[in-house]
Amino acid sequence: MTLPLTERPAWKALETHFAEVKNLHLRDLFAQDPARGERLTLEAEGIYLDYSKNRVTDQTLRLLINLARESGVEARRDAMFAGEHINSTEDRAVLHTALRLPAGARLIADGEDAAAFVHAVLARMADFAGRVRAGEWRGFTGKPIRNVVNIGIGGSDLGPAMAYEALRHYARRDMTFRFVSNVDATDFAEAVRDLSADETLFVVSSKTFTTLETLTNARTARDWLLSALGDEAAVARHFVAVSTNAAEVERFGIDPANMFEFRDWVGGRYSVDSAIGLSLMLAIGPEGFADFLAGFYAMDRHFREAPLEANLPVLLGMLGIWYNNFFGAETIAVLPYDQYLARFSAYLQQLDMESNGKSVTLGGARVSYQTGPVVWGQPGTNGQHAFYQLIHQGTKLIPCDFIGFARSLNPLGDHHDLLMANFFAQTEALAFGKPADEVAASGVQPELVAHRSFEGNRPSNTLLLEELTPSALGKLIALYEHKVFVQGAVWDINSFDQWGVELGKVLAQRIVPELSGQGELEHDSSTNALIRRYRSARRS
Ligand code: F6P
Repeated sequence: MTLPLTERPAWKALETHFAEVKNLHLRDLFAQDPARGERLTLEAEGIYLDYSKNRVTDQTLRLLINLARESGVEARRDAMFAGEHINSTEDRAVLHTALRLPAGARLIADGEDAAAFVHAVLARMADFAGRVRAGEWRGFTGKPIRNVVNIGIGGSDLGPAMAYEALRHYARRDMTFRFVSNVDATDFAEAVRDLSADETLFVVSSKTFTTLETLTNARTARDWLLSALGDEAAVARHFVAVSTNAAEVERFGIDPANMFEFRDWVGGRYSVDSAIGLSLMLAIGPEGFADFLAGFYAMDRHFREAPLEANLPVLLGMLGIWYNNFFGAETIAVLPYDQYLARFSAYLQQLDMESNGKSVTLGGARVSYQTGPVVWGQPGTNGQHAFYQLIHQGTKLIPCDFIGFARSLNPLGDHHDLLMANFFAQTEALAFGKPADEVAASGVQPELVAHRSFEGNRPSNTLLLEELTPSALGKLIALYEHKVFVQGAVWDINSFDQWGVELGKVLAQRIVPELSGQGELEHDSSTNALIRRYRSARRS
C-alpha cells in the first residue's frame, strides 16, 4: 500500500533537501563539476536529453528517483501495459500502448486480443488509404479524392492535425488536408471554401460520436456535399467515420463498412496512433504510419525496461515534479525549434492538462499539493521575440523543454545553423545569465546595469534528435505520454478521465434553446444579462 504523497519518506527527504539547495545557482553547480554537461545527460532511442541545466544535485536526482519508486510508478506502469483497469472512475483499461505493438504480439484486454484487433484495423486503414492515394477510391462523380477534411475535436483533432503538420515533409503534396474542429461555422466555411465537393473526403473522427461540435460540423459537411452533388448516395463515397461507437455512426448515416474502429481503452488524447490517425495515414501513407508507430513502440519499450535512473519519461516527469511541487512553478514551456512542430505545444496542452488537471486522489480525497502544470509554448525562434523576455527577466520560474534537430528537412543556406545557434544560446543564457558585475564591467551606464543584468538560474531540458521523421515524432509523443503518466502516478490521481469538461457541456445544452427563445432566464445575474444582450443583438 502506497503512503499518501506527503508522507512518503522520499517526499519528506526532498522537503529538507529543497531548503538546502533551493538557492544554489547553476553557475556554481557547473563550476564545481566541469563534467556536469556531459554527465547529466541520457541518450535513448535516438533522443539525447541534456538535463544538466536543471537546479539539481546528484542527491536531488537520487531522491526524486526514490520518490518515483516509493510512489509505485513501476507497478502502475506494469498494470497499464498489462491492460488492468487503472482508469478506475470509468472502469477502463488504459491501453494506448497496445496501438503500437508489433504484428504478431498478443495482449488480452477485456477478453479480446487487443493487438490482433489493432492490426486488423490497421490493415483495413492501410487498404483504404492505399486505394484513396492511388486514385482507386473514387468520389460519387467518378473523380479521385484530392482533398481530405478531418472533422473532430480535442484528441480527435489535435493529434492528427499536429502530426500532419509535423510530418508534412512526408505527406502527399498533390492532396489537400484540412482539419475542422471548432463549432464556430467559420472553421468549416474556411476549410472548404476552395474545395470541390466531388473530390473531397470527410473523415469524421469521434471516439464517442456524440460530441456536439463534431456532429454539428459533420451534419454541415453532409449538407454542403449534398447541395453540390444532389444525391444521398454520394455520402457513402465521401464520408468515413472513426469511432468506438458503431451504433451512433450508423445512426448518423455512415455505412459501418466505412467505419474504422478503436476501443474505449484508448483515451481521446492518446488516440493519434489509433484509427483516429486515418487522415495522417492518408497523408503520409501506410509505411510512414508504420514508422510512426514503431517510434512509439521503441519509447514504450524504453519506458518499460530502462531502470528508473536512466529512463527518459521518468526523469522528465520527476524533474517536472521538482519544480512544480517544490519550487512552486505553475507552468512549463515546451519550445520546439522546428517549424513543423508548430502545433506540438498545443497538442501537449491537451495531453498533459486534460490528464493531470485533477484535484482529488484516486481514493477521492482532495489533494494537499499541486498537480498538473499549465503547458504552453511556441516554436523557436518566434517565441524569442514574444514571451522569452518574461522567462529571462520576469519574476516567475518557468522550466522549459527545448526540442531541436541536428538536421533540417529544408536545408536552405545557413538557416539551420542560425536556428540552432539560437536554440543553444537560449538555454545557455537562461542558465547562466549575465551578472551585474559583468554588465558593469562591459561599460554599461551604471543606471542601466540592473535593467541589463540577467540573474540566470532558469532551468531547462534540451532534447536533441537527429531529424524529424515519423518515427522520431512517435518517440517524442510517447515520451511525453509516459512523462504525464509518471507524474499522475506520483500525484496519485487518475490521469485518464476528464470529468472536468462535463459541466460546461451540460450548461451549454441548457442555454442553446434559451438563445432563440423569449422565456424567463434562471441563471445568475451576469449570465442572464449576457444572454439577454445576445438575444437582442443576434441575427434573426
Ligand atoms: O474534451 C473532452 C473530450 O472528451 C476529449 O477528451 C476528447 O478528446 C474530445 O472531447 C473529443 O471527444 P470525441 O472523440 O468523443 O468526439
